[in-house]
Amino acid sequence: MKIQSICCIGAGYVGGPTMAVIAKKCPDIKVTVVDLNEARIAAWNDEDVSKIPVYEPGLSDVVAEARGRNLFFSTDVDKAIDEAEMIFISVNTPTKTYGEGKGQAADLKWIELCARQIARVAKGDKIVVEKSTLPVRTASTLKDILENTGNGMNFQILSNPEFLAEGTAVEDLMAPDRVLIGGDQTEEGLKAIDALVNVYARWVPKERILTTNVWSSELSKLTANAFLAQRVSSINSLSELCEHTEADVNEVSRAIGTDSRIGPKFLKASVGFGGSCFQKDILNLVYISRSYGLNEVADYWEQVIIMNDYQKKRFSNKIIKNLYNTVSGKKIAFLGWAFKKDTNDTRESAAIYVADHLLNEQSKVSVYDPKVTEQQIYSDLDYLGSRAPEENKDSLLVVDDPYEVCKGAHAVAVLTEWDEFKTYDWQKIYDNMLKPAHVFDGRNIMDKKALRDIGFKVHAIGTADDN
Ligand code: NAD
Ligand code: UGA
Repeated sequence: MKIQSICCIGAGYVGGPTMAVIAKKCPDIKVTVVDLNEARIAAWNDEDVSKIPVYEPGLSDVVAEARGRNLFFSTDVDKAIDEAEMIFISVNTPTKTYGEGKGQAADLKWIELCARQIARVAKGDKIVVEKSTLPVRTASTLKDILENTGNGMNFQILSNPEFLAEGTAVEDLMAPDRVLIGGDQTEEGLKAIDALVNVYARWVPKERILTTNVWSSELSKLTANAFLAQRVSSINSLSELCEHTEADVNEVSRAIGTDSRIGPKFLKASVGFGGSCFQKDILNLVYISRSYGLNEVADYWEQVIIMNDYQKKRFSNKIIKNLYNTVSGKKIAFLGWAFKKDTNDTRESAAIYVADHLLNEQSKVSVYDPKVTEQQIYSDLDYLGSRAPEENKDSLLVVDDPYEVCKGAHAVAVLTEWDEFKTYDWQKIYDNMLKPAHVFDGRNIMDKKALRDIGFKVHAIGTADDN
């Protein structure tokens, strides 16, 4: 079966970039991305392509090429469902904030709404593709809804989890390590798998397209994120030991990463991992394991989160301790707010928690990030609910110039590994700060010796502190 029309429900960080790349690579397939959020769709349709709502290197070029040709963004969800042979569901699946499973289980209410809408609207057979990250066995829920509330149409459900990382989304989509497609191992299921394989095969080598049963595919996505996050927590746990023993965590990472069985990636010690998915997916894995009574399995994975929370707290405490145990009334300048470089996404960014902790100690925080808006920064803090919004506005200042942000500060904290931070005139920054001037490098990106030579006291993750 050759697919001619695709619809994707959810125009977020995954739906937008994945569909833009499919449209680029398959000019003969009509791809329509729909969302309930009118402002988001309007931004995807903005004539000025630099204003699309997701910042990713290279993405605006891909959108500019395909938009209006075979890539469309719309709020008319029903029409797009009706016209498509294949429907991707790429809506958000955040951690539940209420009821049973609060704080751990994935909230599937948006997924269920999509399934009900597809069932109501579909007037022909459809292939429904889970692109969102979902708990293992969600496909059976979808099937149940589609079969029991639909108009007698046939639905095949595939799991096709997305492995892109933000900041490198376009690269990852153009040349993925692998594409994973799970489906029913029946004649109809295998046909549906084949239809989706044929879409990706336009640009992904066949040997990189893995096919499995639905449950393996759903579970592999949670497992991949859990393994990646586990590596970060593992190296972060050792970063503290390094700080006490004068071992250098960067040297330890290099030393172990050259073992081909371990490999060099995801061994960078940091202030802690952020992003919309690692924490939510591991919590989900913990919840699922406990729901099967597998307490040891749940405890094992939960420790990855416990370590990460500890690392964020430990970084804030390092700042407080080195500023003579009080930051009350002191200005701390943040370089970076995004959860990693090359993205404007701030979900679960370590910066939010470090700021919150310092503000609780009555510090004055000022923030500069090259891509994150002032409105987003306040909304992240307000969402935590530790202080009234007016109080957040009083004690945290967002500044659009990196030199201005550091002026009069006792310390600079590097929270995101933006490349531009390394190119600044650090002598100028030093001259305008209160002395002793400290740099707290939460990302281990700065040249420590150069900073020390200027006169800074340097504190990095995983190396002994300057006193
Ligand atoms: P997002 O919040 O950026 O986007 C989701 C979009 O879905 C929102 O714009 C929302 O308005 C829309 N939506 C929700 N319900 C809808 C409905 N019923 N009809 C139409 N639109 C609806 O989320 P995201 O970061 O794109 O993540 C989506 C999924 O992909 C999640 O399950 C996530 O775990 C997974 N994922 C994310 C990443 C990533 O890097 N962000 C990577 C891999 C997988
Ligand atoms: C991650 C995975 O890498 C993707 O494969 C997956 O598709 C995605 O989650 C998802 O499911 O959402 P992402 O969160 O966008 O992607 O970014 P990563 O590069 O994985 O970084 C996550 C966090 O870990 C960042 O805060 C990053 O700074 C931190 N990190 C990463 C470290 O602290 N050290 C490292 O060595 C690597």
